[in-house]
Amino acid sequence: MHTIARELNQVLEHTVIADLLSDLGKRMYFPKGIVSQEAEASLKAKKLKATVGMATKQNIPMYLPSIFEDISSAAPSDVFPYASTAGDQELRKLWLEEMAVKNPDLRGKTTSLPVVTSGLTHGIFLAGDLFLDEGDTILVPDLFWGNYTLIFEERSKAKLVTFPFYNQDKSGLDLHALEQAIANAPGSKVSLIVNFPNNPSGYSPTVQEAQQIVAILKRAADGGKRLAVITDDAYFGLFYEEGTCTQSLFAMLADAHEHILAIKVDGATKEDFVWGFRIGFITFGAKGVTSEQYEALVKKTMGAVRSSISNASKPAQSLILKGMKSSTYHQEKQQAFDLLQSRYVLVKDILKRHADDDNLVPLPFNSGYFMAFTCKGSAEELRLYLLDRYEVGAIAIKDDYLRIAFSSVDNDRMEELFDIIYQAAGELWN
Ligand SMILES: Cc1ncc(COP(=O)(O)O)c(C=O)c1O
Repeated sequence: MHTIARELNQVLEHTVIADLLSDLGKRMYFPKGIVSQEAEASLKAKKLKATVGMATKQNIPMYLPSIFEDISSAAPSDVFPYASTAGDQELRKLWLEEMAVKNPDLRGKTTSLPVVTSGLTHGIFLAGDLFLDEGDTILVPDLFWGNYTLIFEERSKAKLVTFPFYNQDKSGLDLHALEQAIANAPGSKVSLIVNFPNNPSGYSPTVQEAQQIVAILKRAADGGKRLAVITDDAYFGLFYEEGTCTQSLFAMLADAHEHILAIKVDGATKEDFVWGFRIGFITFGAKGVTSEQYEALVKKTMGAVRSSISNASKPAQSLILKGMKSSTYHQEKQQAFDLLQSRYVLVKDILKRHADDDNLVPLPFNSGYFMAFTCKGSAEELRLYLLDRYEVGAIAIKDDYLRIAFSSVDNDRMEELFDIIYQAAGELWN
């Protein structure tokens, strides 16, 4: 049991609560991860805050006008009724159509219709509910969104087994490690979760790496493994470099092999700049699965939705649907992309000027909201020093890496932010 859970249980000792808690209740805790570091930064980072996984402009959340303008004028019937369990049918179809446009490799392949979830978190949780039993292993590269631990280990009672994300010289992904991890996974059933663009590193595979990943998974399937591959596509679309794979691995895996089930978890949260709406999707694809079989899996997913949240937010679905149908939707998304890409380009430029500094070594990144440094000393020490001495917020990951959300820093503050971070690291470690 996690130490924090144990501490909470101690506080509750000799109460009726302790007598009544379920095993899951006993295992639950609130991690001292990104969310609590973010809360600390909100209090102390008065100067600059590069903590939160959102995109902001002048300290206000970015948004698509086609979604925002409908908020006050929406019809009551689009706002107040219950949503259906699997979500608004038109939205599900439109999301799938858009998915095929964004992922040309999906054309001609059959998948399930996406089921609406309460954000990606809930989609990941549903994948755990449906495909993981107590004691099962789920493989994940060692740079991952911390909430996987709480979802898969504490809730699903599965074992999160990591393998190196980057290769040894940090020139790209460690694909050998992926292949080994699959080979070493016990039994014939293998679950894997991948997240590109990655949180916290900001890395996405090159086209070649993506093809190699698919080949590795197919080899494992040929060798008799049955694979459930979850693609967490939270930051999908934010690919800034030529040569990066701009499609989800789901598109390539959806009909790769009869023994591979691809599970795409994506959502409007980051793709459409609506973090608080809580709308995600879960979609399935596997070679040879018939529409009747997809429908059966969707029904099971609906059962998991109904028994967890009943249904997702109606007003949020209506607003996203209207936004997606607006004639300016794609243009607005492009503008938001351009702004985030300009931040990425600027960060790359700033980092070049600090290339000789060995206190902070940037990990390769080419996409998404974030970049991360490998730290010469304790990343947590640097985080706290930045907060207390400079009122600057960043996130420490596993005490080894400092994550910077350049998505939430305006271009005219970027240089100042990085100068302070390098300065602080120098004061601690030179
Ligand atoms: C990699 C990754 N997956 C999933 C999520 C959760 O998304 P949502 O807010 O839609 O639940 C996040 C949010 O930060 C994330 O970084």
